[in-house]
Amino acid sequence: MAEDQRETGKRPVPEDVRERVRFLTAEIDRHNYLYHTLDAPEISDTLFDALYHELVTLEEQWPELRSPWSPTLRAGGRLLEALPKKAHRVKMYSLDNVFSAREWEDFLEKLRRAYEGQGPWNEYFYCDPKLDGLAVELIYEQGVLTEAMTRGDGESGEVITEACRTIPTIPLKLRDEQPPELLEVRGEVVMFKKDFLALNAAQKAQNKKIFANPRNAAAGSLRQLDLSVARSRKLTFLAYSLGASLWRPGTASRTHTELMQRLADFGFLTPPNGRLCKGSSEVVSYAEWVRSNREDFPMEIDGCVVKVDELAVQRQLGFTARAPRFAVAFKFPPLKVSTLLKNIEIQVGRTGVLTPVAVLEPVAVGGVIVSRATLHNEDEIKAKDIRIGDTVWVQRAGDVIPEIVGPVLEKRRNDLQPFVFPDKCPVCASPVYREPGQAALRCENLSCPAIRLRSVLHFVSKAGLDIPGFGEKWVEQLVQSGRVACPADLLTLTVPELLQFKRMGETLAAKLVAALAEACRQTSLERLISALGIRHVGTETARTLAEHYQDLDRLAKAREEDLLTLRDVGPEVALSVRHFFSTPANLELLAKLKEAGLWPVQKAKALHAEQSQVLAGKTVLFTGTLAISRSEAQKAAEAAGAIIVSGVSKKLDYLIVGEKPGSKLAKAEALGIAVLTEEEFFALLGK
Ligand code: IVH
Repeated sequence: MAEDQRETGKRPVPEDVRERVRFLTAEIDRHNYLYHTLDAPEISDTLFDALYHELVTLEEQWPELRSPWSPTLRAGGRLLEALPKKAHRVKMYSLDNVFSAREWEDFLEKLRRAYEGQGPWNEYFYCDPKLDGLAVELIYEQGVLTEAMTRGDGESGEVITEACRTIPTIPLKLRDEQPPELLEVRGEVVMFKKDFLALNAAQKAQNKKIFANPRNAAAGSLRQLDLSVARSRKLTFLAYSLGASLWRPGTASRTHTELMQRLADFGFLTPPNGRLCKGSSEVVSYAEWVRSNREDFPMEIDGCVVKVDELAVQRQLGFTARAPRFAVAFKFPPLKVSTLLKNIEIQVGRTGVLTPVAVLEPVAVGGVIVSRATLHNEDEIKAKDIRIGDTVWVQRAGDVIPEIVGPVLEKRRNDLQPFVFPDKCPVCASPVYREPGQAALRCENLSCPAIRLRSVLHFVSKAGLDIPGFGEKWVEQLVQSGRVACPADLLTLTVPELLQFKRMGETLAAKLVAALAEACRQTSLERLISALGIRHVGTETARTLAEHYQDLDRLAKAREEDLLTLRDVGPEVALSVRHFFSTPANLELLAKLKEAGLWPVQKAKALHAEQSQVLAGKTVLFTGTLAISRSEAQKAAEAAGAIIVSGVSKKLDYLIVGEKPGSKLAKAEALGIAVLTEEEFFALLGK
């Protein structure tokens, strides 16, 4: 108790501070809503940031002023240990499907019979697109978001409140002076197609996991234990129905259409292009309209949902064990078509990996013409038994990346032979090699023209020096002519030399040479390391290496055991870095880079500079014996925005424990306070 008082100080809060915090909380919330939900911002990002930081600072000084809907709660930046499970108050049902107008009529017939004799109803239906994301329930008590859960198995789901708070389209407080006492809002968390493509491009550039489709990406992001990752993913919530609700007298909606308007008034986005259809034939034309405009929706959709509009009729009809009787999913046929597999080409990548690519008779899949698709590797072809000459099913996974599902066996001619993977590189004819435990076959010949081409292309790509204008066709000509054998050879190109190539003009040649010269002056060490294309070294690892070694001479001499002490460098990466710098051809490349003047040196970073504010406003206490000194640990925490306190109380956010923690740990556990080990704490700081 005495401890409690000491920590919070109990200075009386000046009234103007209290008022300012109240103003900032509401104002930031309003601008967040204008920007993310209404897409109609009123102020600049700079001004928004200034308001936000003012609030962060005031809340740090006066933690008791932080409201349960403060926009600073969206900051994420915590590490969860697990996602606890919890039962839904009202079961989250799934939906029955119909796939055609015929099946819809059958469903409607059943519906009419089920409602027979219960009074008149108008056969109005509220229809909206069926969003392909993750069903989520948000619980608002007295208008404030208190909990969020995944659908799970319908009976119970995982608690994902913290991750949901990072989603800007989820209101932390309903926009209503007199909100319902309890409101469980159900809807879908989706990743827009453009955000999904950007995420995968970034993941690829950093050698990180590629997501198969937006739904997987959304699910992976929501179930993140690392909330700073969850926050960095662009997710959107759209509301479409309710779970339990306790409305103030006379405020409940009468129809689904009204309910959707109420949800929008509360500050939610709702599925786009929802419409009230008056009678069965309007439902059919609505479904047809959505299907033919499917590609134009910003998120993935896989049908539309048709709901009886009158809520009293919905209640009368009720549910079967699995699904409501008053609603149905009108699903679109999957985006899958069959076509002829004309050939399987083998591509040799920058790292020598041989990738089989299906060459198809061009075919439209969901509005996109597909003529090539990756077959991934030898095992994949064997597992699916795909043969040249087969008719194959082509599908756009998550409507983005075309994929070969498998052969249409009924259509196979009996003279087709199983595909035999080459044992020689198709470009340089060197024997290929399969690393134990890996699916990929690779060409190990460093002077293989295909590998040269790919590594030069990588060097000028976005992940490398980012020199626009150096398209594949130029690089191909340069490599074929023998003038460019390694990326460094680009740097000595002159305008007259470039002009010898077919279709190269003065302007472009001058532009390319200037861009290369500029790159020599400007390129940072981390970018150059990434451009080298060392296996398993993406932009993130390149930054770590640049920060630590500061120039390529030192990196080239780094020993494996030293590399292993760095953040995000595991045995695979360390080995591959060592391998790269002990290959004579690569040492030659370094010598050429140095000679051409592309030799950036990274300045040492000031300690704690640029530490992200992951602990902004959080109270932290250390206990037990730490591996580093207590004061160093505290400095690191403060650099990340934490406030160091002296005792355990309910107000403590994190207890960080070393060896032999003693009574503080027991007390923190009793109070349900987050406990981190020293290691977890530094992982949280990104160290
Ligand atoms: S209304 C009683 N509307 O699809 C269920 N659901 O496959 C009423 N879904 O679990 C749900 N888009 O989570 C509704 N526009 C939409 C939807 C939608 C996607 C989800 C829903 C359901 C699942 C069934």
